[in-house]
Amino acid sequence: MNIPNHIGIIMDGNGRWATERGKKRSEGHKAGGKTLEKLALHAKNLGVKILSVYAFSTDNFKRSDEEVSFLMDLLIQYFNGKLNRVCEEGIKIVFSGRKEPLRKDVLEAMENIVERTKDNKECILNICLNYGGQEEIVDASLKIADDINNGIIKKEELTRENFMKYLYQDLPPIDLLIRTGKEHRLSNFMLYQSFYAEIYFVDTYFPDFLETELDKSIEYFSNRDRRFGSVKTN
Ligand code: FPP
Repeated sequence: MNIPNHIGIIMDGNGRWATERGKKRSEGHKAGGKTLEKLALHAKNLGVKILSVYAFSTDNFKRSDEEVSFLMDLLIQYFNGKLNRVCEEGIKIVFSGRKEPLRKDVLEAMENIVERTKDNKECILNICLNYGGQEEIVDASLKIADDINNGIIKKEELTRENFMKYLYQDLPPIDLLIRTGKEHRLSNFMLYQSFYAEIYFVDTYFPDFLETELDKSIEYFSNRDRRFGSVKTN
């Protein structure tokens, strides 16, 4: 099987998973967290080098205060211990997104897990938190403007490849982009990095998107003919 180097997952459907089971939405997020841990370990074992996940978008701040604060507390719990196995199995954790207006305790927990896993080499778990794809492109453009003004890069040296170095993390493009939970949209997720991603939409709600579901998405990816804009010659 052809294993994608970089997989992105829009982890959608936690709320509906819970509601359909007569549970609170928060139970869905808890279940989603457990699924993410399993998927990160499985992806690493398969040889995936980067897994980028959408944990919280800039627009998710529009949710109720109760849900936002539950999610932030849950994320802290994950960064402070619940991701222990992920850290111990050699996975390096990095974050993409804006700091403002994240709570201080969330930022501290993020810094701690980054520091703790910085020398891990097996693969990277890139957690998109307070993240927006358009915001990332705007933020990169502002950094580029500064670098041009300061003579660090010349305007004519800017290419679509070196633009990527100005994004929140300098990662290779996404090969396989998965969205769980029935919706068929990108919702502002890693727009620049997904330029040639194969997209896999699946109805399964994220908490049920377990190892065999990831295998199926990789099988789908393996069967794609990736031409990157050229024409097949054989
Ligand atoms: C989308 O489902 C999911 C989220 C906004 C949160 C994702 C968070 C986790 C999986 C928790 C753990 C994460 C980490 C990084 C440890 P939704 O609430 O939009 O579901 P709905 O569309 O059914 O309402």
